[in-house]
Amino acid sequence: MTRLYDDIKTFFKQQAELFPPEIYLISENGEESTPKTDSATQLAELERICQNCRQCHLSATRTKVVFGTGNPHAKLLFIGEAPGVNEDLQGLPFVGRAGNLLDKMLKAIGLTRAQVYIANVLKCRPPENRTPNVGEVEKCEPYLLKQIAIIQPELIICLGLTSAKTLLRVEYTLEKMRGQIFQYHNVDLIVTYHPAAILRNENLKKYAWEDFKKITNLYLDKTGEYMALNDGE
Ligand code: URA
Repeated sequence: MTRLYDDIKTFFKQQAELFPPEIYLISENGEESTPKTDSATQLAELERICQNCRQCHLSATRTKVVFGTGNPHAKLLFIGEAPGVNEDLQGLPFVGRAGNLLDKMLKAIGLTRAQVYIANVLKCRPPENRTPNVGEVEKCEPYLLKQIAIIQPELIICLGLTSAKTLLRVEYTLEKMRGQIFQYHNVDLIVTYHPAAILRNENLKKYAWEDFKKITNLYLDKTGEYMALNDGE
């Protein structure tokens, strides 16, 4: 009974922390919890909640939660699928070979990972790197939605078909999605190849480069700021 009561209390506390001002809790001393305003503080608080998440069974097999990393005010938000083995060990997104390539792709448009924000659809690694299932996405997506609400990016870039299909709930091919501008919770979203796919098939590089040039044009349209293109290699 005490355990159940604690679980219920934790659940409501988490919902209130994730979704202020929609939900307020009155604390034991009668004060309302009030939302914080600074993005970095809000992200840190959300990460603290996420680090303790037990909403799905992936919490039992994860080594570390991979919340996301980067600039709390980033204009570009890159979203991968889920942590892999290296990410699970280090608690950071895109730190393996695919992450190395992502760093190079960012450099090609004059950016570093400290200037953008990088997150995944799932914050915990699915065993054997299998595709996230519907139940896992349902439990984890509120964290992503909250990250978007805090960061307020100008543009979301989905890395790979799985994150695009998962977030947009569509069944298109990546080829059909590339070049289009979608909407995800009122933010423009575009889709490009996952760096791991490019590592498997070098021929995709030129298409990814086209997509990254499109990102720079969209960024210019939205912010009036130019990015420094380096090269397409
Ligand atoms: N692949 C992803 O989709 N995300 C990571 O963080 C690492 C690999």
